[in-house]
Amino acid sequence: MIVLVGFMGAGKTTVGHLLSEHLGLPFLDTDLVIEQRAGCSIRQFFAENGEPAFRELESQVVCELVDGSEAVLALGGGAAGHPDTVTRLKSAQVVYLQVTYEEAMLRVAGDQYRPMLSRPGLEELYQHRLSVYDSVATMTVATDGRRPEAISQDVIAQLAGQCQRRPGGGRGDGRGA
Ligand code: S3P
Repeated sequence: MIVLVGFMGAGKTTVGHLLSEHLGLPFLDTDLVIEQRAGCSIRQFFAENGEPAFRELESQVVCELVDGSEAVLALGGGAAGHPDTVTRLKSAQVVYLQVTYEEAMLRVAGDQYRPMLSRPGLEELYQHRLSVYDSVATMTVATDGRRPEAISQDVIAQLAGQCQRRPGGGRGDGRGA
């Protein structure tokens, strides 16, 4: 399972689609699965049920998908903060797409469908999440000023390098390496 994490605007969905094409794996987006399951948009879900309820549903969905069949899976920007998700991600290849706060805002500012964008203290939340992404990542790729295709190629090259270093192609634990 290849899981993409990173802040809103990191390019998880765009790069995830490219990776799924290159690797011949299905692409799954947790936000879309949540919307299907909730029967409403994430914006509406936040408005009606609040963020804690969203985080619970999000964690359930992420854990199910990580346990499911092989795929490229894009997580919502806040998903990696849930303890159950952190535990489940230990069995996955976790690609952290890094983006600076400034570039993330250029990419997503004003998007009405991302309720977290209008919350106070967004930059502090961004700062806090950096260590969360770092702690779950097995691979980190910078995205500022880069085209999605180049980022996707970078991920594929790093995946190939990891397989070569590990005869048999099994996944070791890249954390802390
Ligand atoms: C969120 C990010 C969104 C979505 C929800 C909450 C967050 O996903 O899950 O609006 O807390 O950062 P993207 O990262 O795909 O925008």
